[in-house]
Amino acid sequence: MISIRNLSKYYEIHHKKIPALKHVNLDVKPGEIYGIIGRSGAGKSTLIRCVNMLERPSEGNIYIEGTCVTEMGSAQLREARRQMGMIFQHFNLLQSRNVVDNIALPLELAGLSTDKIKTRVDELLGLTELSNHAKQYPSQLSGGQKQRVAIARALAYSPKVLLCDEATSSLDPQSTMSILELLRSINHELGITILLITHEMDVVKTICHRVGVIHQGEIIEQRNVIELFTDPHTQVAKDLVKASSRMEIPRVIKEMLQSSGDHDSGTIIRIAYHGESASQPIIGYLIQQYRININILQGNIETIQDQIVGVMIVEIKGDRTSVEKSISFLERNGLHVEILGYVQRDP
Ligand SMILES: Nc1ncnc2c1ncn2[C@@H]1O[C@H](COP(=O)(O)OP(=O)(O)O)[C@@H](O)[C@H]1O
Ligand SMILES: [Mg+2]
Repeated sequence: MISIRNLSKYYEIHHKKIPALKHVNLDVKPGEIYGIIGRSGAGKSTLIRCVNMLERPSEGNIYIEGTCVTEMGSAQLREARRQMGMIFQHFNLLQSRNVVDNIALPLELAGLSTDKIKTRVDELLGLTELSNHAKQYPSQLSGGQKQRVAIARALAYSPKVLLCDEATSSLDPQSTMSILELLRSINHELGITILLITHEMDVVKTICHRVGVIHQGEIIEQRNVIELFTDPHTQVAKDLVKASSRMEIPRVIKEMLQSSGDHDSGTIIRIAYHGESASQPIIGYLIQQYRININILQGNIETIQDQIVGVMIVEIKGDRTSVEKSISFLERNGLHVEILGYVQRDP
């Protein structure tokens, strides 16, 4: 659906080339919700703006349904852009136009008849639940309602792809959830492929099927969402997951943490599990089977896309061999284990 090949983008500042994207390769499948997550300045907006050529790539190619948009002339590009709707953090509505006229704008520009425009706008008002606000102006709407107008406008020409640049970053948690719900139903009911960028893990957790982590202009990790959450590989992904699950090693333990341990130190591990392994009384079994003590320091269980996902930070105490056997038992049973360090404490 969307294929990005070896995409690089440099900005020139005082005659110096500053890279914003470096050799990005990415495939978004038809019907998928793909999230790009990264910190501020990582290159997210540049990437999404290259996809619809608001920004010209310095190197590389972008294909939408097999057609290379990076080599198109302006007439072709205008046509290709109709296949792609886009929404923004700050909605970008025309303040002087009411809801109906904002939504109608792309249809007017495309030269549709007044009747056709009215029919289509009515459909879109229904889809985005804005029928009761049709005559209001942006200044009279809440943030969530403004984003609904922007979504309706982006969908006016029935695009195949919707690009979302931090679409919920200015919204309160409740409006965020309702906009994400709307995006999910647009994806599900209309089959529209969604590429969204965000700095919020919660957005990714709520609606994305797959996710790419971007850092300093590079995609450093591409995973499905539950994999990323239970077993992040890169430090950036680990930090994002940690912040989102509110899972920190308790401060008193953190201060004592060492990178190696001896025979009587406790081993601090992060355990993550999902699906099947979640329901098994594994901890109880471990204590019985391997004669170790487990002290749960932090725990968080949540549902991500209908799967139970649990993350725990525990301290295991016991003799070296039993601790090692316990860890390999957990791994054999499909749990992800990361050793965070060792602590030496008075019994
Ligand atoms: N028009 C521009 N001119 C020069 N530098 C830019 C421009 N747009 C973005 N940048 C720089 O490129 C990098 C990536 O920016 P951006 O894509 O906006 O990141 P993000 O959306 O992840 O916050 C940043 O270092 C930013 O300062
Ligand atoms: Mg941005």
